[in-house]
Amino acid sequence: MSQQLIDNFDRKFEYLRLSITDVCNFKCNYCLPDGYQRTHEKQFLSKQEITNLVNAFAELGANKVRITGGEPALRKDFPQIIEAIATIPGIKKVATTTNGYNLSNNAQAWFDAGLDAINVSVDSLDAKTFHLITGKNIFQKVMQGVNDSVKAGFKQVKINSVLMKGLNDIDLDLYINWIKDQPIQLRFIELMQTEDNGEFFNKHHLSGEWIKKNLLENGWSKKESLSHDGPAQIFCHPDYQGEIGLIMPYSKDFCKSCNRLRVSSVGRLHLCLFGEEGVDLRDLLGSSADKEKLKQRILASLQTKKVSHYLADGEVGGTPHLASIGG
Ligand code: 5AD
Ligand code: SF4
Repeated sequence: MSQQLIDNFDRKFEYLRLSITDVCNFKCNYCLPDGYQRTHEKQFLSKQEITNLVNAFAELGANKVRITGGEPALRKDFPQIIEAIATIPGIKKVATTTNGYNLSNNAQAWFDAGLDAINVSVDSLDAKTFHLITGKNIFQKVMQGVNDSVKAGFKQVKINSVLMKGLNDIDLDLYINWIKDQPIQLRFIELMQTEDNGEFFNKHHLSGEWIKKNLLENGWSKKESLSHDGPAQIFCHPDYQGEIGLIMPYSKDFCKSCNRLRVSSVGRLHLCLFGEEGVDLRDLLGSSADKEKLKQRILASLQTKKVSHYLADGEVGGTPHLASIGG
């Protein structure tokens, strides 16, 4: 039998989150409140290195790749990267997570290049609050991009919204009304503490449990978890076309359904979002002749993956903000 990505806790990893740049043009207050700081020149993975990397993962059983950032669409060769990944044997699904700044102009081109799924971050449905959170006064443009994505043919557009007490918790009804007649999956993500955002976290962290309670009291029910949902809990309602997803990294057992591995934009394999500095793969990415060595290094690293992120114990080590490894 061919080698597979299975760790010591019997979790199977078929999903790769690949960051292609850590540069971002937004200043989300929980992530890069002062904007992206260029500390030193970085050479991000080239299209060829990305192809070699994904090929190795695909041979180890990965079938889904999400292209992340920073903001992935800031790379000029983004459509070519989508196409390169989409044509790798074994890759069934290519997704991306974007802040939506240029989505409206590009949704169709990305779809045509082979992108299957798109997540757009929309942290508030109020234009002023959106500006306050992201530092960008382009709420309408992002929403236009969401609508254009639905039109371009993406089956289900997903929206990410980081829950923040006192900032967007009052938007809940607006959000829920929005998806009544739209095939959108709205994903509320509990704010996570990183090395840089401790003070902000203490002020604005809100548990997803109150949304869960609210939904269950109002006719929503939890769907059976599918393996590709990963740690998200999904809720549906007979009167709504859209769905709601809850991502609660502080909840007990969150890590049990972990199904993803991450590679940073400079080629480091991260077994977890938190608490480790990653394993360098870059020296094996330049030539396809190193594929077997690359696969062995990935498999060996996976055996060191821990059972949990220990976030509830205050573990934030190693991750200054999520732009660095793509959330
Ligand atoms: N906590 C929760 N979600 C975060 N994201 C970025 N930083 C954080 C954080 N500290 C989310 C973004 C985006 C995705 C890539 O990760 O909002 O939707
Ligand atoms: Fe940029 Fe995403 Fe971080 Fe916002 S959360 S600053 S869009 S990387």
